[in-house]
Amino acid sequence: MVEKAIPKVIPIRIDEGKGLTPSIGGTLNAPHRHTQDARSRTLRDLRISVTDRCNFRCTYCMPKEVFDQNYPYLAHEELLSFEEITRLTTIFSALGVEKIRLTGGEPLLRKNLEVLIEMLAAVRTPDGNPLDLTLTTNGSILRKKAAALKAAGLQRLTVSLDGLNDEIFKKMNDVDFPVADVLDGITAAQEVGFQNIKVNMVVKKGTNDHEIVSMAKHFKGSGIILRFIEFMDVGSSNGWNMAEVLPSKEVIASINAVFPIKPVESNYIGEVAQRWRYEDGSGEIGVISSVTQTFCHECTRARISTDGQMYLCLFANEGFDFKTLLRSGKSDLEIANAIMNTWSARDDHYSEIRGSAIANQSTSHHKVEMSYIGG
Ligand code: GTP
Ligand code: 5AD
Ligand code: SF4
Ligand code: SF4
Repeated sequence: MVEKAIPKVIPIRIDEGKGLTPSIGGTLNAPHRHTQDARSRTLRDLRISVTDRCNFRCTYCMPKEVFDQNYPYLAHEELLSFEEITRLTTIFSALGVEKIRLTGGEPLLRKNLEVLIEMLAAVRTPDGNPLDLTLTTNGSILRKKAAALKAAGLQRLTVSLDGLNDEIFKKMNDVDFPVADVLDGITAAQEVGFQNIKVNMVVKKGTNDHEIVSMAKHFKGSGIILRFIEFMDVGSSNGWNMAEVLPSKEVIASINAVFPIKPVESNYIGEVAQRWRYEDGSGEIGVISSVTQTFCHECTRARISTDGQMYLCLFANEGFDFKTLLRSGKSDLEIANAIMNTWSARDDHYSEIRGSAIANQSTSHHKVEMSYIGG
């Protein structure tokens, strides 16, 4: 077995930092001022990993050789409970977070996930609005879960799908999972009324890049937004190398040659995908170019790992220990202050310095796995 990357855990001392935060006015219900980091980036988006387990073994995320039967997954008592996740979410929303994405691992493997969704759907922003509550899934059990997710109040859904050709798809998921079942899961989600479904395709040059145009053709006109993601060097075990990255501009060129497309403005500041629209009006696609066109300068995302550590970057190797804080009788206000202080000091911009000596040095003791901190 390959050794598990052990993330560095940073304890949080509540008496450190700025003390009571004036911007939340001493009470969590008061209107907030947005929280900014050392690079003036606002905290808006929280991604929560609800399980570090998955039934797929995508080679770019949980390669079989590492995530085998001996892999030390977290034990149940190490996971944040639904109550703890909801409490944290409520505090984050008081600090300006408007979007929650549940991820994993495969989030639908977390038992009774719909109960958590119902709890999160009841959380309100300081302005009294519900959160943008969304989830990323591999779609494998979506047929079974779609109705319950919708009924619980999940607003949006993103399904990962790396090809339409069964053989290629099986090569990507590495567990022989048939593409037809994921497509059927997407259909089920549409049937129960999910709109604005997105499909994410990670492109690995030489493995599934010849699926780009057929994926575009399949989803064109369906109302589903297909996004192509550059293969990234997340974690410490996916054997990443630049030769397997297909730059997004080549994805755009391949599609444009068959179906003319033109660029569209972002929906919001910090949107990771660059949007392109089909000129014939049949919908849009997106590209996420974390390797060739970095977007750290607008990064508004914090991540909570399955066991309650806060990570400030997808490529971080250290997490801030919020689980201990949650379990030590601290008040919401104390936790809010700790979040503010942690975010205020944030200087992460890994994608901008990828390959440099500083990046290599800071990640030399292993980046944490994406399945643990959540995509
Ligand atoms: P929308 O809310 O629908 O706009 O979703 P999103 O684009 O914010 O989220 P999604 O989880 O679908 O992001 C798609 C993929 O982009 C992720 O799976 C990652 O591969 C990549 N990604 C998301 N956030 C970051 C980030 O902060 N840094 C980097 N490098 N990649 C990211
Ligand atoms: N590169 C790019 N995206 C990745 N994901 C996981 N691993 C990688 C990687 N190495 C993202 C994909 C997938 C989601 C769950 O995580 O978007 O759809
Ligand atoms: Fe599982 Fe998603 Fe990772 Fe694939 S990318 S192994 S489906 S968590
Ligand atoms: Fe944000 Fe880190 Fe991704 Fe840059 S590399 S966009 S800082 S998560």
